[in-house]
Amino acid sequence: MLNIAIVGTGIIGNSHIQAMQELDSCRLCALCDVNEAVVAELAAEHNVPYFLDYKDILDSVDVDAVILNLPHFLHCEASVFFLEHGIHVLVEKPMANTVEECDRMIEASKKSGKKLAVGHVQRYFAPMRFVKDVYESGRLGKLCMFTEIRTINYFAENRPKWFLSKEKAGGGIVMNYGAHALDKLFTILGAQDVEILSSVDNIKNDADIEGHAQIVAKLSNGVSAAITFSGYSTSIYDTCFFFENGMVKLNGGCATVYDVNGQMTQADLSQYGGFHFAYQLEEFCKYVCGEESIVTDGHYGRAVIKAIEQIYA
Ligand SMILES: NC(=O)c1ccc[n+]([C@@H]2O[C@H](COP(=O)([O-])OP(=O)(O)OC[C@H]3O[C@@H](n4cnc5c(N)ncnc54)[C@H](O)[C@@H]3O)[C@@H](O)[C@H]2O)c1
Repeated sequence: MLNIAIVGTGIIGNSHIQAMQELDSCRLCALCDVNEAVVAELAAEHNVPYFLDYKDILDSVDVDAVILNLPHFLHCEASVFFLEHGIHVLVEKPMANTVEECDRMIEASKKSGKKLAVGHVQRYFAPMRFVKDVYESGRLGKLCMFTEIRTINYFAENRPKWFLSKEKAGGGIVMNYGAHALDKLFTILGAQDVEILSSVDNIKNDADIEGHAQIVAKLSNGVSAAITFSGYSTSIYDTCFFFENGMVKLNGGCATVYDVNGQMTQADLSQYGGFHFAYQLEEFCKYVCGEESIVTDGHYGRAVIKAIEQIYA
């Protein structure tokens, strides 16, 4: 049984707390957040101690691993701190703001012998597991292209403000959602080098992050991708995988298969059920225990950041 502390109890920290309730392989041992009102209430609810500074956790709690759900600029320093203190780390996506930071994290993991995983959660979603099965079974032939269109009000009042600062978030819609789109491709094809053409800008306001982007990418195995993000309108979120004999479209947690004769079939995803954050956590626990695991490691997280750096370049 692994003792796991959660650092950062904002929006996604809660999903990790919920995931922990579903598993026997780990237990929540501490919570940490600089926002005392929120963390104190959660700690009382889960009957664990809480901390305002993550550096204090190890003084009084027996911890095997941490899950870091922090603003992006803190991912590197917090990961390195815990790895250097002999604690395994699952850090939320994107791994860090730069490849150079990713390298420091990988080096700290290598030196300490402690595991570093990155919370790229796409591979645990039911529709993505379906697409992976379609790809691996070859039932629609070879994969040739990927497209994603995602639009959202990126500058909505309820978005935590750090997301709108280049210094704190490392970028805007590309750093945040590009990490997910690239993860979808890399989940199916393995992390790869990519050639990229992109246009990234902000025409909306004076935030120093981009609010829209168009990206054309070619993966080293020849598959191409076209990704469009707009942070200025309401939600379209369509992802398509184009195969030799048809297409799979993902939307709203569903997957639809379009075959070459015009037949359209809603995929039955019942066999892929379960809470994706619990699945991810289970794979992280296996990884920490030295068992076979599909959790994404530091090298995978670095490949995503390398592609994002190319998009910005
Ligand atoms: N996997 C996903 O689907 C998914 C979805 C949303 C966010 N994320 C990622 O999760 C991470 C957190 O995002 P979020 O949406 O939960 O943001 P958030 O702002 O809601 O949560 C971040 C939390 O970190 C706390 N914090 C800030 N500085 C701290 C410090 N020094 N020590 C301890 N706590 C500190 C904040 O008070 C806040 O509660 C980001 O990397 C984001 O990209 C992933």
